[in-house]
Amino acid sequence: MERIRCDRTATWRGLQNLFANGGQTFDLRRAFADDAGRFAAFSQSAPHVFADLSKNLLDREAQRLLFALARQCGLEQHRDAMFAGETINNTEQRQVMHWLLRSPAAAGLDNLTSERAQVHTVLDAMLAYAQSVRADETITDIVNIGIGGSDLGPQMAVQALDSFVLPGKRFHFVSNVDGHELDAVLKRVKPASTLFLIASKTFTTIETMTNARSARQWFEANGGSDIGRHFAALTTNVAAANAFGIRTTFGFWDWVGGRYSVWSAIGLPLAIAIGELGFRAFLAGAHEMDEHFRRAALESNLPVRLGLLDLWYRNFHRFSSRSIAPYHSALRRLPAYLQQLEMESNGKCVDAHGQALRFGTAPVLWGEPGTNGQHAYFQMLHQGTDTVPVEFVAVKNPRHDLAGHHELLLSNVLAQAQALMVGQRDTGGHKNFPGNRPSTFLLLDELTPTTLGALIALQEHRVFVSGSLWGLNSFDQWGVELGKVLAKDVQARLHSGDIEGLDASTAGLLQRLR
Ligand code: F6P
Repeated sequence: MERIRCDRTATWRGLQNLFANGGQTFDLRRAFADDAGRFAAFSQSAPHVFADLSKNLLDREAQRLLFALARQCGLEQHRDAMFAGETINNTEQRQVMHWLLRSPAAAGLDNLTSERAQVHTVLDAMLAYAQSVRADETITDIVNIGIGGSDLGPQMAVQALDSFVLPGKRFHFVSNVDGHELDAVLKRVKPASTLFLIASKTFTTIETMTNARSARQWFEANGGSDIGRHFAALTTNVAAANAFGIRTTFGFWDWVGGRYSVWSAIGLPLAIAIGELGFRAFLAGAHEMDEHFRRAALESNLPVRLGLLDLWYRNFHRFSSRSIAPYHSALRRLPAYLQQLEMESNGKCVDAHGQALRFGTAPVLWGEPGTNGQHAYFQMLHQGTDTVPVEFVAVKNPRHDLAGHHELLLSNVLAQAQALMVGQRDTGGHKNFPGNRPSTFLLLDELTPTTLGALIALQEHRVFVSGSLWGLNSFDQWGVELGKVLAKDVQARLHSGDIEGLDASTAGLLQRLR
């Protein structure tokens, strides 16, 4: 079945009418007063995640129309096509199968038996290697060199699962081509006790290759002798890794997008950090969410409900950003991770057939852990001129026993969501809080490998949902290419001083930088 873009359906017009006649002036406080069942109707459990969507600017009729829209657009068929291994990444002619990386070995009742077998062969080898690094007391520092999806996923997850990390191992993540970053790490490690993981799907990314070469040079210049033991590569381009001099390689496949690759060999730093059982639990949590997304009716399908809400906010309320507020300090890289996931997937102004879109797509995602954000930008969330939907992420049970802290943390996250909604009337002006500001509340019982896996897979699928209805190919990223091409030209000019044909601003800055 052909996908139908959301704005070409009859329901799209129905939603426009609904928005014009009541949707726009929807008031959360009135909605709760009028509907005693609102919390129950707009909250739900999914594997390892409880979600309260009731503090969003959405009523039952809007939600009903959004489900109808999803059906008309062919969301279920599109989702099933992804899970059937069809080439839904049409601009690159690739399958989209990051979900297969977390599918159990025994699940092979489909035509993907050979891919599944390859996945488990690499997974078993990589986990055996991770276990051997864990057991090797001479290796104390693991330096991951990668960028984008080859950095953000493992970095976010290693930090998030900090309390599960093997004592005695330190993890460093070098992504930026800015030499300050690598330099700072190299000053803290020694060749004999360091393992460098060169993480790059393509093994051509200029930042990663530059950092990898400098790391190798430093290693050799400082008495390091055994590159075979101290360097490993995580890549789909094993030949290039071999040419670089690396013998230990763990591969993956072109059907794993960079921003979806933490489940593949790119997850090796995490596997070393939390061990084989932990990594398998991370995959299992994500798999449970895959099954939920695949099988639950749209009405009780959490990624679907979140993705539809995202569309409602972007295209009808026209909100252009969403703030992520994880109330757990270990989730401090979650906003950056989600930025890549959503903005690289859905930050597009043409549909999968290259046709220009006349509606908004990916919002800006941003945020910081709570309660820090409260003392920085929450002022704007409460009293600014723009409405920014907030997504709170809270964890019920802490993994420390410092008295009082967690209760205070949870009180704050609840109070912020409440304050955004209820507001405060003050005729004097400055103390007036308009209220009616929407938020979603995602709640985990604990932050563990399993629950983190489920949370991340939930986010992947909600991005699939909005991208699908918008008619996008969420799995390419042509938009990052132009800057890469121009950087090569500018680098040559910085060298030579040639400003011929440049715009005046670029030329002026280039001359100052020489
Ligand atoms: O920034 C573009 C991008 O292609 C991302 O999608 C990807 O995660 C990143 O570069 C790194 O690519 P690679 O893993 O091939 O080095």
